[in-house]
Amino acid sequence: MQFDVIVLGAGAAGMMCAATAGQRGRRVLLLDHASKLAEKIRISGGGRSNFTNIHARHDCYVSDNPNFCRSALAQFTPQHFIAMVERHGIAYHEKKLGQLFCDDSSQQLIDMLDAECRDAGVDRRMGVQVGEVGRSDAEGFSVATSIGTFQCQSLVVATGGLSIPQIGATAFGYQLAEQFGLPVTKLDPALVPLTFHVDDAARFAPLAGVSLYTEVRVGKVRFRENVLFTHKGLSGPAILQISSYWQPGQEIIIDLLPDTDAEAWLEERAGSDQLLANAMGELGWPKRFAEAWLEGQGANVRGRDLSPKKRRQLAEALHHWRVLPNGTQGYKKAEVTRGGVSTKALSSKTMMANDVPGLFFIGEVVDITGWLGGYNFQWAWSSGFVAGKNC
Ligand code: FDA
Repeated sequence: MQFDVIVLGAGAAGMMCAATAGQRGRRVLLLDHASKLAEKIRISGGGRSNFTNIHARHDCYVSDNPNFCRSALAQFTPQHFIAMVERHGIAYHEKKLGQLFCDDSSQQLIDMLDAECRDAGVDRRMGVQVGEVGRSDAEGFSVATSIGTFQCQSLVVATGGLSIPQIGATAFGYQLAEQFGLPVTKLDPALVPLTFHVDDAARFAPLAGVSLYTEVRVGKVRFRENVLFTHKGLSGPAILQISSYWQPGQEIIIDLLPDTDAEAWLEERAGSDQLLANAMGELGWPKRFAEAWLEGQGANVRGRDLSPKKRRQLAEALHHWRVLPNGTQGYKKAEVTRGGVSTKALSSKTMMANDVPGLFFIGEVVDITGWLGGYNFQWAWSSGFVAGKNC
Protein backbone atom coordinates (compact mmCIF):
# COMPACT_ATOMS: atom_id res chain seq x y z
CA MET A 1 0.00 0.00 0.00
CA GLN A 2 1.33 3.41 -0.99
CA PHE A 3 1.43 6.55 1.20
CA ASP A 4 3.04 9.92 0.62
CA VAL A 5 4.50 9.93 4.14
CA ILE A 6 5.08 7.30 6.81
CA VAL A 7 5.86 8.58 10.31
CA LEU A 8 7.44 6.05 12.70
CA GLY A 9 6.56 6.87 16.34
CA ALA A 10 3.28 8.44 17.45
CA GLY A 11 4.77 10.46 20.28
CA ALA A 12 5.05 14.22 20.60
CA ALA A 13 7.14 14.90 17.49
CA GLY A 14 5.51 12.21 15.34
CA MET A 15 1.95 13.39 15.97
CA MET A 16 2.85 17.01 15.31
CA CYS A 17 4.58 16.03 12.07
CA ALA A 18 1.76 13.75 10.89
CA ALA A 19 -0.90 16.41 11.53
CA THR A 20 1.13 19.12 9.77
CA ALA A 21 1.79 16.92 6.72
CA GLY A 22 -1.83 15.77 6.60
CA GLN A 23 -3.02 19.39 6.65
CA ARG A 24 -0.92 19.95 3.50
CA GLY A 25 -2.92 17.23 1.79
CA ARG A 26 -0.26 14.52 2.13
CA ARG A 27 -1.50 10.95 2.63
CA VAL A 28 0.06 10.04 5.97
CA LEU A 29 0.45 6.73 7.81
CA LEU A 30 1.47 7.09 11.48
CA LEU A 31 2.79 3.88 13.08
CA ASP A 32 3.69 3.02 16.67
CA HIS A 33 4.52 -0.28 18.34
CA ALA A 34 3.00 0.77 21.68
CA SER A 35 -0.63 -0.01 22.41
CA LYS A 36 -1.20 3.34 24.15
CA LEU A 37 -0.81 6.66 22.40
CA ALA A 38 1.96 9.10 23.50
CA GLU A 39 2.66 7.66 26.94
CA LYS A 40 5.50 10.11 27.56
CA ILE A 41 3.16 13.06 27.14
CA ARG A 42 0.72 11.42 29.54
CA ILE A 43 3.28 10.88 32.34
CA SER A 44 5.08 14.18 31.79
CA GLY A 45 5.02 17.01 34.30
CA GLY A 46 3.46 14.81 36.98
CA GLY A 47 0.44 14.17 34.71
CA ARG A 48 -0.01 17.84 33.79
CA SER A 49 2.75 18.08 31.15
CA ASN A 50 5.13 20.98 31.11
CA PHE A 51 4.35 21.35 27.42
CA THR A 52 6.56 24.32 26.51
CA ASN A 53 8.73 27.07 27.86
CA ILE A 54 8.07 30.61 26.73
CA HIS A 55 11.83 31.34 26.93
CA ALA A 56 12.86 28.48 24.61
CA ARG A 57 15.88 29.48 22.56
CA HIS A 58 18.84 27.61 21.09
CA ASP A 59 21.14 28.09 24.09
CA CYS A 60 18.75 26.10 26.29
CA TYR A 61 19.71 22.97 24.37
CA VAL A 62 22.69 20.61 24.69
CA SER A 63 24.08 19.35 21.38
CA ASP A 64 27.32 19.13 19.43
CA ASN A 65 25.75 22.08 17.57
CA PRO A 66 23.11 23.97 19.62
CA ASN A 67 22.74 26.47 16.74
CA PHE A 68 21.10 23.69 14.76
CA CYS A 69 17.77 24.14 16.56
CA ARG A 70 17.49 27.88 15.80
CA SER A 71 15.65 27.43 12.51
CA ALA A 72 12.97 24.99 13.74
CA LEU A 73 12.42 26.99 16.95
CA ALA A 74 11.91 30.12 14.84
CA GLN A 75 9.56 28.40 12.36
CA PHE A 76 7.36 26.98 15.13
CA THR A 77 7.67 28.94 18.37
CA PRO A 78 6.21 28.36 21.84
CA GLN A 79 3.56 30.96 20.87
CA HIS A 80 2.48 28.79 17.93
CA PHE A 81 1.98 25.82 20.22
CA ILE A 82 0.19 27.95 22.82
CA ALA A 83 -2.16 29.16 20.07
CA MET A 84 -3.01 25.53 19.26
CA VAL A 85 -3.60 24.75 22.95
CA GLU A 86 -5.90 27.78 23.23
CA ARG A 87 -7.76 26.87 20.03
CA HIS A 88 -8.60 23.54 21.67
CA GLY A 89 -9.80 25.28 24.83
CA ILE A 90 -7.14 23.72 27.08
CA ALA A 91 -6.56 25.73 30.26
CA TYR A 92 -2.93 26.20 31.30
CA HIS A 93 -0.76 28.20 33.67
CA GLU A 94 2.85 29.27 34.12
CA LYS A 95 4.35 27.49 37.12
CA LYS A 96 7.73 29.26 37.21
CA LEU A 97 10.59 30.27 34.92
CA GLY A 98 8.39 30.33 31.80
CA GLN A 99 7.25 26.71 32.27
CA LEU A 100 3.67 26.18 31.01
CA PHE A 101 1.56 23.31 32.40
CA CYS A 102 -2.00 22.10 31.73
CA ASP A 103 -4.37 23.09 34.53
CA ASP A 104 -6.09 19.69 34.37
CA SER A 105 -4.37 16.83 32.59
CA SER A 106 -1.74 16.00 30.00
CA GLN A 107 -4.33 13.71 28.40
CA GLN A 108 -5.88 16.89 26.96
CA LEU A 109 -2.74 17.44 24.87
CA ILE A 110 -2.81 13.87 23.59
CA ASP A 111 -6.47 14.30 22.64
CA MET A 112 -5.65 17.62 20.96
CA LEU A 113 -2.86 16.13 18.82
CA ASP A 114 -4.98 13.09 18.04
CA ALA A 115 -7.84 15.35 16.90
CA GLU A 116 -5.43 17.38 14.74
CA CYS A 117 -4.24 14.14 13.11
CA ARG A 118 -7.78 12.88 12.60
CA ASP A 119 -8.92 16.18 11.05
CA ALA A 120 -5.92 16.05 8.73
CA GLY A 121 -6.88 12.55 7.56
CA VAL A 122 -3.89 10.78 9.13
CA ASP A 123 -4.16 6.97 9.19
CA ARG A 124 -2.87 6.10 12.69
CA ARG A 125 -2.14 2.49 13.68
CA MET A 126 -0.99 1.44 17.15
CA GLY A 127 0.53 -1.86 18.31
CA VAL A 128 2.35 -2.31 15.00
CA GLN A 129 5.78 -3.95 14.98
CA VAL A 130 8.04 -2.23 12.47
CA GLY A 131 10.54 -4.52 10.77
CA GLU A 132 12.81 -3.95 7.83
CA VAL A 133 13.00 -0.51 6.26
CA GLY A 134 14.62 -0.07 2.86
CA ARG A 135 14.64 1.88 -0.36
CA SER A 136 11.70 0.76 -2.54
CA ASP A 137 13.11 2.57 -5.58
CA ALA A 138 15.51 5.45 -6.14
CA GLU A 139 13.11 7.90 -4.47
CA GLY A 140 10.90 6.02 -2.04
CA PHE A 141 11.00 3.73 0.98
CA SER A 142 9.40 0.45 1.91
CA VAL A 143 8.48 -0.37 5.50
CA ALA A 144 7.75 -3.96 6.49
CA THR A 145 5.43 -4.25 9.50
CA SER A 146 3.33 -6.77 11.39
CA ILE A 147 0.29 -5.55 9.41
CA GLY A 148 1.87 -5.56 5.96
CA THR A 149 4.43 -3.77 3.88
CA PHE A 150 3.93 -0.11 3.01
CA GLN A 151 5.59 2.21 0.52
CA CYS A 152 6.12 5.95 0.87
CA GLN A 153 7.91 8.89 -0.70
CA SER A 154 8.98 10.38 2.65
CA LEU A 155 9.89 8.50 5.80
CA VAL A 156 9.95 10.40 9.10
CA VAL A 157 11.67 8.79 12.10
CA ALA A 158 10.20 10.01 15.40
CA THR A 159 10.90 7.03 17.64
CA GLY A 160 12.33 9.09 20.51
CA GLY A 161 15.19 8.31 22.88
CA LEU A 162 16.12 5.49 25.24
CA SER A 163 14.66 6.75 28.51
CA ILE A 164 11.95 4.75 30.29
CA PRO A 165 12.27 1.51 28.30
CA GLN A 166 9.35 0.10 30.32
CA ILE A 167 6.93 2.27 28.28
CA GLY A 168 8.28 1.42 24.86
CA ALA A 169 11.52 3.32 24.26
CA THR A 170 13.78 1.57 21.74
CA ALA A 171 17.03 2.22 19.88
CA PHE A 172 15.20 1.77 16.56
CA GLY A 173 15.72 5.34 15.32
CA TYR A 174 19.46 5.27 15.99
CA GLN A 175 19.79 1.90 14.22
CA LEU A 176 17.86 3.19 11.23
CA ALA A 177 20.12 6.25 11.04
CA GLU A 178 23.18 4.03 11.01
CA GLN A 179 21.61 1.77 8.39
CA PHE A 180 21.32 4.80 6.08
CA GLY A 181 24.85 5.97 6.88
CA LEU A 182 23.98 8.84 9.26
CA PRO A 183 26.33 9.21 12.25
CA VAL A 184 24.93 8.95 15.78
CA THR A 185 26.73 10.80 18.59
CA LYS A 186 27.46 9.25 22.00
CA LEU A 187 24.25 8.48 23.90
CA ASP A 188 23.82 9.01 27.65
CA PRO A 189 20.95 9.34 30.10
CA ALA A 190 20.24 13.03 30.82
CA LEU A 191 17.95 14.99 33.13
CA VAL A 192 18.73 12.15 35.49
CA PRO A 193 19.56 11.81 39.22
CA LEU A 194 23.25 11.36 40.06
CA THR A 195 24.52 8.65 42.40
CA PHE A 196 27.02 8.86 45.28
CA HIS A 197 30.04 6.66 45.92
CA VAL A 198 29.32 4.04 48.60
CA ASP A 199 30.86 6.05 51.49
CA ASP A 200 28.98 9.24 50.63
CA ALA A 201 25.78 7.26 50.07
CA ALA A 202 26.02 5.82 53.60
CA ARG A 203 26.83 9.25 55.10
CA PHE A 204 23.97 11.06 53.37
CA ALA A 205 21.35 8.28 53.35
CA PRO A 206 19.69 9.64 56.53
CA LEU A 207 19.19 12.94 54.67
CA ALA A 208 16.97 11.43 51.97
CA GLY A 209 14.12 13.85 51.35
CA VAL A 210 16.02 17.01 52.31
CA SER A 211 15.75 19.73 49.67
CA LEU A 212 17.90 22.89 49.55
CA TYR A 213 18.05 25.93 47.26
CA THR A 214 21.55 25.97 45.72
CA GLU A 215 23.64 26.86 42.73
CA VAL A 216 25.14 23.79 41.07
CA ARG A 217 28.05 24.06 38.65
CA VAL A 218 29.94 21.83 36.23
CA GLY A 219 32.70 23.65 34.36
CA LYS A 220 31.19 26.96 33.25
CA VAL A 221 27.56 25.78 33.33
CA ARG A 222 25.52 26.62 36.41
CA PHE A 223 21.90 26.30 37.53
CA ARG A 224 20.17 27.89 40.54
CA GLU A 225 17.43 25.56 41.74
CA ASN A 226 16.75 23.03 44.45
CA VAL A 227 18.89 19.97 45.15
CA LEU A 228 17.16 16.94 46.63
CA PHE A 229 19.02 14.27 48.66
CA THR A 230 17.91 10.72 47.82
CA HIS A 231 18.83 7.29 49.16
CA LYS A 232 21.23 6.87 46.23
CA GLY A 233 22.61 10.36 45.71
CA LEU A 234 21.33 13.70 44.48
CA SER A 235 18.30 14.72 42.47
CA GLY A 236 16.01 17.78 42.23
CA PRO A 237 15.85 20.29 39.38
CA ALA A 238 19.38 21.69 39.81
CA ILE A 239 20.92 18.21 39.61
CA LEU A 240 18.72 17.06 36.72
CA GLN A 241 19.77 20.16 34.78
CA ILE A 242 23.48 19.73 35.49
CA SER A 243 23.33 15.99 34.69
CA SER A 244 22.90 16.91 31.01
CA TYR A 245 26.37 18.50 31.10
CA TRP A 246 28.09 16.13 33.55
CA GLN A 247 30.67 13.61 32.34
CA PRO A 248 31.82 10.60 34.41
CA GLY A 249 34.80 11.46 36.61
CA GLN A 250 33.83 15.15 36.84
CA GLU A 251 33.22 16.86 40.18
CA ILE A 252 30.14 18.99 40.59
CA ILE A 253 30.44 22.11 42.71
CA ILE A 254 27.51 23.14 44.87
CA ASP A 255 27.07 26.59 46.37
CA LEU A 256 24.99 25.73 49.43
CA LEU A 257 24.35 29.40 50.26
CA PRO A 258 24.04 31.13 46.89
CA ASP A 259 22.40 34.26 48.32
CA THR A 260 24.49 34.64 51.49
CA ASP A 261 28.06 35.79 52.14
CA ALA A 262 29.04 32.74 54.22
CA GLU A 263 32.21 34.26 55.71
CA ALA A 264 30.38 37.40 56.87
CA TRP A 265 27.59 35.26 58.32
CA LEU A 266 30.10 33.09 60.23
CA GLU A 267 31.93 36.19 61.48
CA GLU A 268 28.71 37.49 62.98
CA ARG A 269 28.64 34.31 65.06
CA ALA A 270 32.27 34.53 66.18
CA GLY A 271 31.38 35.12 69.85
CA SER A 272 28.25 33.01 69.95
CA ASP A 273 27.55 30.04 72.22
CA GLN A 274 25.01 28.66 69.79
CA LEU A 275 25.90 25.52 67.84
CA LEU A 276 26.30 26.35 64.15
CA ALA A 277 23.92 23.51 63.25
CA ASN A 278 21.17 25.30 65.20
CA ALA A 279 22.04 28.74 63.87
CA MET A 280 21.86 27.53 60.27
CA GLY A 281 18.10 27.12 60.67
CA GLU A 282 17.84 30.88 60.02
CA LEU A 283 19.38 30.22 56.57
CA GLY A 284 16.64 27.72 55.80
CA TRP A 285 18.76 24.63 56.49
CA PRO A 286 16.94 21.67 58.08
CA LYS A 287 18.73 20.84 61.35
CA ARG A 288 19.50 17.23 60.39
CA PHE A 289 21.15 18.41 57.20
CA ALA A 290 23.16 21.10 59.00
CA GLU A 291 24.40 18.56 61.57
CA ALA A 292 25.39 15.94 59.01
CA TRP A 293 27.04 18.41 56.66
CA LEU A 294 28.97 20.27 59.38
CA GLU A 295 30.01 16.93 60.88
CA GLY A 296 31.50 16.04 57.49
CA GLN A 297 33.50 19.29 57.59
CA GLY A 298 34.64 18.70 61.21
CA ALA A 299 32.78 21.90 62.11
CA ASN A 300 29.76 20.91 64.18
CA VAL A 301 30.83 23.41 66.86
CA ARG A 302 29.76 26.68 68.56
CA GLY A 303 30.35 29.95 66.73
CA ARG A 304 32.99 31.03 69.22
CA ASP A 305 35.00 27.82 68.70
CA LEU A 306 35.79 28.60 65.06
CA SER A 307 39.23 30.09 64.44
CA PRO A 308 39.42 32.74 61.70
CA LYS A 309 41.26 30.21 59.51
CA LYS A 310 38.60 27.53 60.05
CA ARG A 311 35.92 30.17 59.38
CA ARG A 312 37.46 30.96 56.00
CA GLN A 313 37.77 27.25 55.17
CA LEU A 314 34.17 26.61 56.16
CA ALA A 315 32.91 29.58 54.13
CA GLU A 316 34.85 28.29 51.13
CA ALA A 317 33.31 24.82 51.57
CA LEU A 318 29.80 26.29 51.91
CA HIS A 319 30.14 28.09 48.59
CA HIS A 320 32.15 25.37 46.82
CA TRP A 321 31.03 22.01 48.16
CA ARG A 322 32.72 19.50 45.85
CA VAL A 323 30.86 16.29 45.13
CA LEU A 324 32.16 13.47 42.95
CA PRO A 325 29.19 11.41 41.69
CA ASN A 326 30.00 7.87 40.60
CA GLY A 327 27.28 7.68 37.94
CA THR A 328 23.64 8.31 37.12
CA GLN A 329 20.48 6.38 37.81
CA GLY A 330 20.39 5.47 34.11
CA TYR A 331 17.69 5.35 31.46
CA LYS A 332 15.11 3.94 33.89
CA LYS A 333 15.05 7.30 35.71
CA ALA A 334 16.25 9.66 32.97
CA GLU A 335 13.78 12.06 31.36
CA VAL A 336 15.72 12.17 28.12
CA THR A 337 18.68 10.85 26.13
CA ARG A 338 21.63 13.14 25.51
CA GLY A 339 23.09 12.72 22.00
CA GLY A 340 21.45 11.19 18.96
CA VAL A 341 21.42 11.43 15.18
CA SER A 342 24.17 13.91 14.36
CA THR A 343 22.93 17.34 13.33
CA LYS A 344 25.78 17.36 10.78
CA ALA A 345 23.81 14.85 8.72
CA LEU A 346 20.51 16.81 8.74
CA SER A 347 19.15 20.03 7.29
CA SER A 348 18.21 22.39 10.13
CA LYS A 349 15.56 24.00 7.90
CA THR A 350 13.69 20.79 7.00
CA MET A 351 15.06 18.00 9.27
CA MET A 352 15.76 15.92 6.14
CA ALA A 353 18.94 13.86 5.90
CA ASN A 354 21.40 15.72 3.67
CA ASP A 355 22.46 12.60 1.79
CA VAL A 356 19.22 10.57 1.84
CA PRO A 357 16.44 12.57 0.15
CA GLY A 358 13.05 11.84 1.72
CA LEU A 359 14.40 10.57 5.08
CA PHE A 360 13.68 12.80 8.11
CA PHE A 361 14.60 12.58 11.81
CA ILE A 362 12.73 14.64 14.44
CA GLY A 363 12.33 14.98 18.20
CA GLU A 364 14.47 13.33 20.81
CA VAL A 365 16.16 10.87 18.41
CA VAL A 366 18.16 13.86 17.12
CA ASP A 367 21.24 15.15 18.99
CA ILE A 368 19.29 18.00 20.60
CA THR A 369 18.58 17.79 24.35
CA GLY A 370 16.62 20.51 26.08
CA TRP A 371 16.91 21.77 29.62
CA LEU A 372 14.35 20.72 32.17
CA GLY A 373 11.25 22.92 31.97
CA GLY A 374 9.28 22.30 28.76
CA TYR A 375 12.20 22.70 26.34
CA ASN A 376 12.15 19.08 25.16
CA PHE A 377 8.51 19.15 24.15
CA GLN A 378 9.06 22.46 22.36
CA TRP A 379 11.83 20.80 20.35
CA ALA A 380 9.47 17.92 19.52
CA TRP A 381 6.74 20.35 18.35
CA SER A 382 9.16 22.57 16.37
CA SER A 383 11.10 19.79 14.66
CA GLY A 384 7.88 17.85 14.01
CA PHE A 385 6.21 20.88 12.43
CA VAL A 386 9.21 21.66 10.21
CA ALA A 387 9.43 18.09 8.92
CA GLY A 388 5.65 18.04 8.44
CA LYS A 389 5.95 21.09 6.17
CA ASN A 390 8.65 19.50 4.05
CA CYS A 391 8.02 15.75 3.93
P1 FDA B 1 8.44 10.14 22.30
O1 FDA B 1 9.20 9.27 23.25
O2 FDA B 1 7.43 11.06 22.81
O3 FDA B 1 7.73 9.22 21.20
C1 FDA B 1 8.39 8.18 20.57
C2 FDA B 1 7.36 7.18 20.10
O4 FDA B 1 8.00 6.21 19.29
C3 FDA B 1 6.71 6.43 21.25
O5 FDA B 1 5.31 6.49 21.15
C4 FDA B 1 7.23 5.00 21.10
O6 FDA B 1 6.28 4.02 21.48
C5 FDA B 1 7.51 4.93 19.62
N1 FDA B 1 8.53 3.95 19.26
C6 FDA B 1 9.73 3.74 19.85
N2 FDA B 1 10.36 2.73 19.25
C7 FDA B 1 9.54 2.29 18.27
C8 FDA B 1 9.65 1.23 17.32
N3 FDA B 1 10.73 0.45 17.28
N4 FDA B 1 8.63 1.03 16.47
C9 FDA B 1 7.51 1.82 16.52
N5 FDA B 1 7.35 2.83 17.40
C10 FDA B 1 8.38 3.06 18.27
N6 FDA B 1 9.65 17.11 28.38
C11 FDA B 1 9.13 18.35 28.54
O7 FDA B 1 9.39 19.23 27.72
N7 FDA B 1 8.30 18.62 29.62
C12 FDA B 1 7.99 17.68 30.55
O8 FDA B 1 7.19 17.93 31.47
C13 FDA B 1 8.58 16.40 30.42
N8 FDA B 1 8.36 15.44 31.36
C14 FDA B 1 8.87 14.19 31.21
C15 FDA B 1 8.65 13.22 32.19
C16 FDA B 1 9.17 11.95 32.03
C17 FDA B 1 8.94 10.91 33.11
C18 FDA B 1 9.90 11.61 30.85
C19 FDA B 1 10.45 10.23 30.63
C20 FDA B 1 10.15 12.58 29.89
C21 FDA B 1 9.65 13.88 30.06
N9 FDA B 1 9.90 14.87 29.11
C22 FDA B 1 9.37 16.13 29.29
C23 FDA B 1 10.66 14.58 27.86
C24 FDA B 1 9.68 14.36 26.70
O9 FDA B 1 8.73 13.38 27.08
C25 FDA B 1 10.41 13.90 25.45
O10 FDA B 1 11.48 14.77 25.17
C26 FDA B 1 9.46 13.85 24.25
O11 FDA B 1 8.41 12.96 24.51
C27 FDA B 1 10.19 13.44 23.00
O12 FDA B 1 9.25 13.36 21.96
P2 FDA B 1 9.47 12.33 20.76
O13 FDA B 1 8.25 12.39 19.94
O14 FDA B 1 10.78 12.56 20.13
O15 FDA B 1 9.58 10.90 21.48
